[in-house]
Amino acid sequence: MNHKTLKPFPKDFLWGASTSAYQFEGAWNEDGKGPSVIDKALHPEGTADFKVASDHYHRYKEDIALLAELGLKAYRFSIAWTRIYPNGTGEVNRKGIEFYNHLINELIAHGIEPIVTMYHFDLPYALEEKGGWSNRETIDAFERYARTLFREFGDRVKYWLTINEQNTMILHGSAIGTTDPGIEDPRKMLYQHNHHMLLAQAKAMKLCHEVLPNAKIGPAPNIAYVYPASSKPEDVLAAQTFNSIRNWLYLDAAVFGRYNSTVWGYMEEKGYTPHMEVEDMDILAGANPDFIAFNYYNSITVKASEEEKEAHSTGDEHIVIGEPGVYQGCSNPYLTTTEFGWEVDPIGFRITLRELYDRYHLPLIVTENGLGAYDKLEDGDVINDDYRIDYLAKHLEQCQLAITDGVELFGYSPWSAIDLVSTHQGINKRYGFIYVNRDEFDLKDLRRIKKKSFYWYQNVIKTNGAIISNSK
Ligand code: BG6
Repeated sequence: MNHKTLKPFPKDFLWGASTSAYQFEGAWNEDGKGPSVIDKALHPEGTADFKVASDHYHRYKEDIALLAELGLKAYRFSIAWTRIYPNGTGEVNRKGIEFYNHLINELIAHGIEPIVTMYHFDLPYALEEKGGWSNRETIDAFERYARTLFREFGDRVKYWLTINEQNTMILHGSAIGTTDPGIEDPRKMLYQHNHHMLLAQAKAMKLCHEVLPNAKIGPAPNIAYVYPASSKPEDVLAAQTFNSIRNWLYLDAAVFGRYNSTVWGYMEEKGYTPHMEVEDMDILAGANPDFIAFNYYNSITVKASEEEKEAHSTGDEHIVIGEPGVYQGCSNPYLTTTEFGWEVDPIGFRITLRELYDRYHLPLIVTENGLGAYDKLEDGDVINDDYRIDYLAKHLEQCQLAITDGVELFGYSPWSAIDLVSTHQGINKRYGFIYVNRDEFDLKDLRRIKKKSFYWYQNVIKTNGAIISNSK
């Protein structure tokens, strides 16, 4: 749909940027922090581990000063569960509370709204040893952790995100290090995990509304609209199925408190239905998110699955898109790809925004969107990342179109604020507005250097999105 005039971005739009604790903080075992599943996972050869990451734990003041200079209105970060509860539950680690108190106070002192993700892939290893998300005790541990976060930080934090990309943990857990890659068909187990995470999330949302009536809380899945490869009805059916499996399962449960019927049918067919206690559906139905946060990088295209063919991946070789007899991922000939093989689809972003708002009628905030690339540090501390500006500008233009279409979007927080270590492709897959001077194994001086995109985004924020294109 074409518009004669575009609506402006809302006056108090939350221009943000995002990070996650384990990819950014470093200090993996300092000040009482316990190990998480990520600390124990094997990660791909040739890539940095997360022990030092960007050393934000020791440089948070300098980092926040830079984010303030960027002009951010909001900053989305995650709290490491294992800094607060080194064993997942039990004794609170006061040093962990202290760190996040300093961080939050520093943000507020700079006029930046903190947006807190409670759990971003880094489940405490002590809980994993007791069965992790297979064990219902993890639900109680999450609720207790949530209560602690609300009590300690709720006087200053207004926006809470429950679980980052629960759907990625269920669909691609072995790529990001949350599922043991040695398990042959983990899907039955993963749908049980999923059920328990949905309960944990529902309990946290309910609790948040009870103890912090002025706060807002919502889920934060990765949502990518799934296209059919053609108008062949079989392909359309496959896309509909995968939309439900990948996207709607998570949001139907969070928003409507029920399972998506197509996914339930799929789980019955495959023998993946989770075990439930009698009270579970009431728990799901008893929680209401205030908004939907979502991460968007690309759309997905699928076709009908040819039974005999193995599932295969599109782009990122670690991520398999497809399941024999259900759907089969394929590349989209209308899209370009990044250096890492990820398809780039700004219009898919508008489609996803519209679809989400039409389905759920809740305010939306984008909590990740961005381009992973090999940046080049040139003489004189210059990084000419025009490709990143181009990617972000094109996506922001689509946000504005979606707003004009009628979508209630209250924030945009791209990935990432500052360079950090990718989930499975190292530090040299960079996303930030600010460069961190280190390589995969050489920590160098870890100094921060503003990229060209820093100045571009600064101007976008200053003009409240009136100037998006890269023509400055
Ligand atoms: C999202 C995650 O899936 O994508 C982030 O929430 C992640 O943690 C981001 O870093 C980009 O993915 P990757 O694999 O390139 O780091």
